[in-house]
Amino acid sequence: MKNIVVLVSGGGTNLQALIDAQNRGEIKNGKITCVISSNPEAYAIERAAKADIPSVVIARKEYPDSVSYSRAILEELNRQKADLVILAGFMTILDKCVTEAYAYRIINVHPALIPSFCGEGFYGLRVHEKALEYGVKVSGATIHFVNEEADAGAIILQGTVDVENDDTPETLQRRIMENVEWKLLPKAASLFCEGRISIVDGKAYIDRSKSE
Ligand code: GAR
Repeated sequence: MKNIVVLVSGGGTNLQALIDAQNRGEIKNGKITCVISSNPEAYAIERAAKADIPSVVIARKEYPDSVSYSRAILEELNRQKADLVILAGFMTILDKCVTEAYAYRIINVHPALIPSFCGEGFYGLRVHEKALEYGVKVSGATIHFVNEEADAGAIILQGTVDVENDDTPETLQRRIMENVEWKLLPKAASLFCEGRISIVDGKAYIDRSKSE
């Protein structure tokens, strides 16, 4: 059974989707063993408590820079013996001391179709504001491995939704969460824990021979 550590910063609806999937037995060969929050006020911490999952707060504002913060995260991941790290609405970019130590063992959910609307500064509602400003007709979310460059690691899964004429950033965000993020993030976690993701030339491939 693989130890899954989930990193959060906010509301934690993606964490909730992972907990619900786990309770339905949909995360095969993996268990959420710890939640780490960068924000002591995050509602995600309550979601973890309600599910009896231990949580640790490592507050971003208590560290002067990204490197010292990332070192603290790395120490905790090692202490937790994490096999898989999931960034579920985690709003801090991790330094390479973490991404190198956990290469191809950290996955992130990004609320757009990478390589669009991603990289530094693109997070949360801002992503949807930018997508609407541009006028795209489809958007979606991407589950990808995390490397030293923001939102640039190998793509595992992507899913799309239509953009409606009267969408606001909030309505688009909600449609993408409900239809894509909350489904694909638990699915990617299970695929990882089942050993069904392989990397060839820096790209991720899923073994589809087993039933979904
Ligand atoms: C989600 O939409 C997630 O994709 C996004 O923030 C939201 C967090 O919601 N993440 C990023 O923008 C990371 N670059 P949640 O706390 O309810 O899961």
